[in-house]
Amino acid sequence: MSEPPNDASVEHWPLFGLRLRCDNVLLRPVQERDLPLLAAIQPPDYEHDPSAEAFPAKIWRSIGGVSSTRATGALGTWSPSSWCLDFAVEHDGALVGVQSLEADDFLDLRTVDSGSWLVSSARGRGVGIAMRTAVLALAFDHLNALAAVTSARSDNAASLGVSRHVGYRDNGVTMNLSGRGLAELTHMRLTAKDWRASKAGERVTVRGFDPCGPWFGRPLPT
Ligand SMILES: CC(C)(COP(=O)(O)OP(=O)(O)OC[C@H]1O[C@@H](n2cnc3c(N)ncnc32)[C@H](O)[C@@H]1OP(=O)(O)O)[C@@H](O)C(=O)NCCC(=O)NCCS
Repeated sequence: MSEPPNDASVEHWPLFGLRLRCDNVLLRPVQERDLPLLAAIQPPDYEHDPSAEAFPAKIWRSIGGVSSTRATGALGTWSPSSWCLDFAVEHDGALVGVQSLEADDFLDLRTVDSGSWLVSSARGRGVGIAMRTAVLALAFDHLNALAAVTSARSDNAASLGVSRHVGYRDNGVTMNLSGRGLAELTHMRLTAKDWRASKAGERVTVRGFDPCGPWFGRPLPT
């Protein structure tokens, strides 16, 4: 497994030392140095948050697009109850996408949400399932989450396929305004009980979590 960087960034921001592995897929938090490559490979079919601030295309590219604004914004607004962790996804040693895990009012609701994208050449080979499984293991087996929710356009078969594969159940549909007009979203939910029954967490290794405890409102281990 790729070693956490041995530099001041981990000392001051222990989350940068987190490493999640599921099968041959490695997740590590996005750092500023990843942004140019992520901006270059981010696929056009990734659904941006339509409420996010829009920049002219040239500036948008130069600041690294949505991956950059999300990842750097999340550092500045982090709190133990509301946070967003963007992981760079490596497969066969190459950076192929991003998997996010986020929560609002986590200390009360103990519910996480997720989002992801992969370059097209990495899709359809189980990488999407592995990277979602990895962040679910962090949520359920280390952060003590009670549930994970996710939403995708009802015509996004691959995203919904990942959710179904790892055990989410249907949780209703809503109509939403997206950047491309009106869209039907399918919502899905996975409970901690179903997660544990699936034993999917056995495929995941999490390293570097202990010093991150306070970032999630948990004490440091004694
Ligand atoms: C969503 C995404 C990350 C999934 O990654 P992936 O590597 O393609 O997914 P996987 O190969 O791991 O698994 C996809 C699952 O969906 C299923 N699936 C894919 N296309 C399907 C289709 N057209 N109909 C039914 N099932 C489908 C696959 O069979 C597989 O399930 P299975 O293993 O149980 O058979 C990737 O497709 C992507 O980047 N899409 C564009 C961005 C995006 O839509 N992100 C999500 C926004 S909510």
